Amino acid sequence: MFAQVLSAAPYGIEARLVEVQCDVGPGLPGFAIVGLPEKEVSEARERVRSAIRNIGLTFPQLRITANLAPADLKKEGAGFDLALAVALLVATGQVAAEKTRDAVFLGELALDGGLRPVRGALSMALAAREAGVGRAIVAVPSAGEAALVDELAVYPVASLSETVAFLRGEQVISATPRTVPEEEPGDWIDLALVRGQEHARRALEIAAAGAHHVVMVGPPGAGKSLLAKCLPGVLPPLAFDEALEVTRIHSVAGLLSPDRPLLRRRPFRSPHHTVSYAGMVGGGHGIPSPGEITLAHNGVLFLDELPEFDRKVLEALRQPLEDRRITVVRAGTAVTFPASFMLVGAMNPCPCGHLGDPLRPCRCRPHEVVGYRKRLSGPFLDRVDLFVQVPRLTREELLGEGGGEPSGAVRRRVAAAREAQQSRFTGPTRTNAEIGPREVRRTCRIGPEAKALLGRAVDHFALTGRGYVRTLKVALTIADLAGAATIGPEHLAEALQYRAFPEEVA
Ligand SMILES: Nc1ncnc2c1ncn2[C@@H]1O[C@H](COP(=O)(O)OP(=O)(O)O)[C@@H](O)[C@H]1O
Ligand SMILES: [Mg+2]
Repeated sequence: MFAQVLSAAPYGIEARLVEVQCDVGPGLPGFAIVGLPEKEVSEARERVRSAIRNIGLTFPQLRITANLAPADLKKEGAGFDLALAVALLVATGQVAAEKTRDAVFLGELALDGGLRPVRGALSMALAAREAGVGRAIVAVPSAGEAALVDELAVYPVASLSETVAFLRGEQVISATPRTVPEEEPGDWIDLALVRGQEHARRALEIAAAGAHHVVMVGPPGAGKSLLAKCLPGVLPPLAFDEALEVTRIHSVAGLLSPDRPLLRRRPFRSPHHTVSYAGMVGGGHGIPSPGEITLAHNGVLFLDELPEFDRKVLEALRQPLEDRRITVVRAGTAVTFPASFMLVGAMNPCPCGHLGDPLRPCRCRPHEVVGYRKRLSGPFLDRVDLFVQVPRLTREELLGEGGGEPSGAVRRRVAAAREAQQSRFTGPTRTNAEIGPREVRRTCRIGPEAKALLGRAVDHFALTGRGYVRTLKVALTIADLAGAATIGPEHLAEALQYRAFPEEVA
């Protein structure tokens, strides 16, 4: 007998439906699976055979052929197990075919018939709904995220035997309710704890308001890492569609926890400088999996000790810094992942860290300083929107009462500036950082005085085309923070301060 049930496979952060077909007939007993790589086949075969036997159902001594279609879709992992087992049970008359219609089956089998979570359940549920499928039978730990998709009834199942009982109408399982969890309080550091560094605080506020890429330069212990860790506390909460995107990414990467099916917090990723190329950009064995830049999508990618990162890894960021997505090619499969993150970099001005400090002489030789800076290429630096100097704290700042404005106040100003951006843009654009050169010309309204200043700045600072656009975008955010409809000279003048790598760091 022939049977067919639906499953799904992740593809990038999307998913495609997969038809799992099973044919059982006379002939030499055996179980062949077509459409999966060799290693996956033998493992899936064992799991399905054991699970069916262990729950007391019949695994027939017949010729069994299973096929996963479409054939050209690369598939891996164990997420098809449940569908394979159910298709086999239908083909052998142990479950009625009509009970499996209009349903997608997502779950990995253990040998005892228990069901494990699948990666990318949210994306697979979305693919099912898009295809007009009405029901999803999903392993319990993955049911919460799948249930975020409306117009799809998600039935959580703990085991193959429970699935069979449910399909036979012997056990009632109610659909998982769609619950959108409250936003969780973050564990960010409050800006009130940061002493001094007014200039850096301001630059970070601008960066947060426009989602601009920012690099902080200063001696060790000035508070660069501290300031970066304050950022999550001033960024606006994720909109629902942004939260869905972030959740899909983490689900595909296998980083979603069952008790938190929807991620509400903006990601803050801080990979160590020893991170590999694939770890940063995405890739790995088999079907490419998302890297740090994709896990930071809609949030912050914090690279501490920037020059210590592998040059190749940093150069690979050039495309996503501008295009806000990355295409990863692995074993003939090209997958595009979203990578719209805000880059926050921190670094010392030189290897010893004290270049420019009048009280602590720098111990580096000139060529060492040059070599250190050269680890960051011109094209990489040209994509940074703001450079900010973070000097050593003064005696007064260290000994004084300290404590600056708390994060809550900054967050409110950032939120207002983001709202101004939202109302300006149509389509998917959310922040000033995302607009391209053409849109910049269309979007930026510049007063005559500011225009004249900009003309002088182009000559004086020898601004590149990209530098010009960057400065305008930052000026636009500064105007948004000020609630101004046009870019004035004061906004532009401030933007110009952040335009270049600080040569002298005191
Ligand atoms: N501006 C500051 N305000 C308050 N504490 C600071 C400041 N700068 C440094 N510190 C203290 O020193 C520690 C080290 O600072 P850190 O942010 O790691 O410096 P950096 O990254 O610039 O080397 C912090 O954990 C914090 O306790
Ligand atoms: Mg640090």
